[in-house]
Amino acid sequence: MSSMLVEGGAGVLAEDAPAKINLHLHVTGRRPDGYHLLDSLVVFAGAADRVTAAPGEGLTLALEGPEAGGLAAEPDNLVLRAARLLAEAAGRDLPGVALRLEKRLPVASGIGGGSADAAAALRLLDRFWGLGLGEARLRELALRLGADVPVCLASRPALMQGIGEVLAPAPALPGFGLVLANPRVAVATPGVFRARQGGFSSPAALPEGWTDAAGLAAGLLALRNDLEPPAITLCPPVAEVLAALRALPGALMARMSGSGATCFALFPDAEAAAQAAGMLPADWWRWGGAAHHG
Ligand code: C5P
Repeated sequence: MSSMLVEGGAGVLAEDAPAKINLHLHVTGRRPDGYHLLDSLVVFAGAADRVTAAPGEGLTLALEGPEAGGLAAEPDNLVLRAARLLAEAAGRDLPGVALRLEKRLPVASGIGGGSADAAAALRLLDRFWGLGLGEARLRELALRLGADVPVCLASRPALMQGIGEVLAPAPALPGFGLVLANPRVAVATPGVFRARQGGFSSPAALPEGWTDAAGLAAGLLALRNDLEPPAITLCPPVAEVLAALRALPGALMARMSGSGATCFALFPDAEAAAQAAGMLPADWWRWGGAAHHG
């Protein structure tokens, strides 16, 4: 992850929190506690929030960035919950820390913004406080913060199963570009899972890898996001976003990520994606660039 560490002034540390994209998402079952079992190939985009830590008094969090407004109504930010959980796990008195969250990813939008922030906070404070808890322990804490937090901890392409805690390396991926688009409608994840109809899907049978973006797109077209139909029912603009993405010149395929409403389109390269993103309606949140290969 060293490429993602950004050092600030004296004693200031920072971590990027990249957007998580579910290239496919099959709902394969349901646990007795109501959580759903998933099968999903997850990649990360260059679009990211950023969390920084500086010496401070107690534990504080400042929210900034273009999407910070979406967090104002939240009683307890996941970054603060991550910090408290880590402090509790350390089991000793720790120096005060002033956290800053620069929010660039839309809130509640299926690209794991909150989960990525929580994961970045765990990585950041493990370093800031010099805890050296190690990946396994951090992963355990991550799962307590949310099903998507463990995969965001490494921010590397992964095949995700269980409710998000069973992680394996992704098949070999080619270089490709991504466009992300969100119609600026927040979608609540539990409602989308509840609105899902029909039986369960089988896990995807993935090859060992793909050599180019077109091959990856063809492979993905045989798969789906099982949460897309219920999300469209609850939030019809998702269908508009998908149609707009599919109409972009050079788009290889498009699908919704997570429980929506953000959708992605795959492109042969980052340049084509960046150019295409600019053609989407300006009142949507949109981003185009490279997939982050970790
Ligand atoms: O774990 P997280 O807070 O991200 O999940 C939000 C909600 O989404 C859960 O309370 C649950 O209703 C639903 N969910 C699920 N199965 C998953 C992940 C989330 O049913 N694997």
